[in-house]
Order: sequence, then structure tokens, then C-alpha cells
Amino acid sequence: MSTAPTTVPTITLTNGIEVPQLGFGVFQVPDAETTAAVATALAAGYRSIDTAAIYGNEAGVGRAIAESGLRRDELFVTSKVWNSDHGYDSTLRAYDETLAKLGLDALDLYLIHWPAPAHDRYLETWRALERLYADGRVRAIGVSNFEPEHLDRLVDAGSVVPAVNQVELHPALQNRDVIAANARHGIATEAWSPLAQGAVLADPVITAIAARHGKTPAQVVLRWHLQQGRIVIPKSVTPSRIAENLDVFDVTLGDDELAAIDALDRDGRTGPHPARFNG
Ligand SMILES: NC(=O)c1ccc[n+]([C@@H]2O[C@H](COP(=O)([O-])OP(=O)(O)OC[C@H]3O[C@@H](n4cnc5c(N)ncnc54)[C@H](OP(=O)(O)O)[C@@H]3O)[C@@H](O)[C@H]2O)c1
Repeated sequence: MSTAPTTVPTITLTNGIEVPQLGFGVFQVPDAETTAAVATALAAGYRSIDTAAIYGNEAGVGRAIAESGLRRDELFVTSKVWNSDHGYDSTLRAYDETLAKLGLDALDLYLIHWPAPAHDRYLETWRALERLYADGRVRAIGVSNFEPEHLDRLVDAGSVVPAVNQVELHPALQNRDVIAANARHGIATEAWSPLAQGAVLADPVITAIAARHGKTPAQVVLRWHLQQGRIVIPKSVTPSRIAENLDVFDVTLGDDELAAIDALDRDGRTGPHPARFNG
């Protein structure tokens, strides 16, 4: 299984680490189903998997990796520390638990899942990630759901700039202020719910572009992300969709098509607002 049918382009993070621009997300996939979904994704050619402690399926991801026959250095594995584990010692413990569940010695990317500003412990949590990074126990560290004010504070206080900020991002929520803050700090933008969990796929602007290119609406939305240099991690448990979401490297949207999708921005957030979510 080591010859991938599709080769995904990579983005180079500020520390020189390369991340596949398109990966596989497993949010809301029960642990028992995760192994099959990840195995299908790896067989199709995905090489990057995005999980989190709170998803409860790190063990399922680990089983699929172990059974895949792929070398560790062919894979890019991301997980995230949950809000209730914020703090220096608790984050270090959470990292060890995550590695044990995944059956890995190190992650490629470890993220603070949410800033959880009411707890006000994300700076301490970041110090723990910096420790793991300095000790060579993780290849890159970053954040998720950080608004510009959280990023500015973290960059001011920390000694390592996050490599990635993974945020909700899709045609109905384009999060332009966050993308601008990421760019200002040299942070790569990673889009979660890149398909808005399906909510944008019937939009007539998107279906018309899809028909023009002989592609599906999901493929058009993924192209819109990719052509703007973002990392995307679409989720599916459906084998045909897992393959479909990877089959996006033979088409290029025109500037007018990108602009038409840009115009769909409507504050259509599907998840909680990071400034108010403390979990
Ligand atoms: N950092 C965070 O706070 C955070 C939050 C949310 C998500 N994430 C990450 O981002 C990943 C993706 O986000 P998401 O899972 O929320 O949403 P998503 O990838 O935008 O959408 C997934 C949904 O769309 C459906 N779908 C997938 N491909 C499709 C296609 N080609 N055509 C039609 N429908 C399709 C899936 O259905 P089926 O599965 O039934 O096929 C599923 O219901 C997550 O899995 C997780 O790894 C991170």
C-alpha cells in the first residue's frame, strides 16, 4: 500500500516541516468506525490525519496507521490538547496519553484545540508545547480557533511562533481577519469544516461552477481553499466521498470563479465563537 494513487502537494511551515495541503479529518467518527475510515483514506492516498483527544478516536486512528504498512515518515499526524487539560503539567500528561492511544513516539503537529479564554491558561499550555518542541518530541506546534487577539498575546509571550492556526473556514464563514493575522505572524492557515459540514454544497453559485468543470460541489469548494494556499482536512466516512475529496488536482478555478465564491461570505459559523467557548 506504499504507492499512493494520488500525490498531494505540500505546504512548508515556518520551521521547514512539510505538511500535505489536503488531509483527512475524523471529528464525530466513533472510535470503532475510525479505523476503517482512516484505512480507506490511506489507501486512496491521504497521508495526513487530523484527530484530537476530545474526538475519542485516537486509538482508532492508531490502529489504521499500524495496519497500513506505511512508514511513519510517510505520514503527517495531528492531534490537539483539550480545554480541560490546559496548564503546563496537564498538557504534558495529555500529550503522553495522546501518543499512547495513537501508538506513536511523536506527533507531526500538536495544537491547542481552543484558546478557552475564560480559563486564561493558554499561555501556560503553549509553554508546555514549546517544551515538547524544544525536546524534539513533536515536529511542529500550533493552535486552533485562535482569534487575532489570542494570537497577538501568544506571540508576544512565547518564544516559538505557532506553525499553524486551524480555524473554521468555508465559503459561508471566510474569517478574513483571522487569515490576515495568521499571515502577519507567518502562520499557516488550516481550514476546519472546509465543506461547512455540507451546508454550502447546494449553493447555486457552487453547483454552477461544478457543472462547468465536470466536478462536484465539494471538489469546487476544496479547490477554492487550495488555490488560496490553505491546508484543508475534509471529513467523510463514505468511501466514494473520501476518494472524491482527494480527486481535486486536475482542475483549476478561474479568478472570476474564486471571486464568486468569495462573495458567499455570510458569517455562517457552524461551531461556537472562539472568544466565548471554554468547553
Ligand atoms: N479544531 C477544531 O475545533 C475543529 C472543529 C471541527 C472540525 N475540525 C476538523 O476538521 C475536519 C473537517 O471538519 P468537519 O468534519 O466538521 O466538516 P467537513 O469536512 O466540512 O464536512 C463533513 C461532512 O460533509 C460530508 N461530506 C464530506 N465529503 C462530502 C462530499 N464530497 N459530498 C457531500 N458531502 C460530503 C460528510 O458526510 P459523510 O461523513 O457522511 O460522508 C460530513 O457530514 C474534522 O473532521 C476535524 O478533523 C476541527
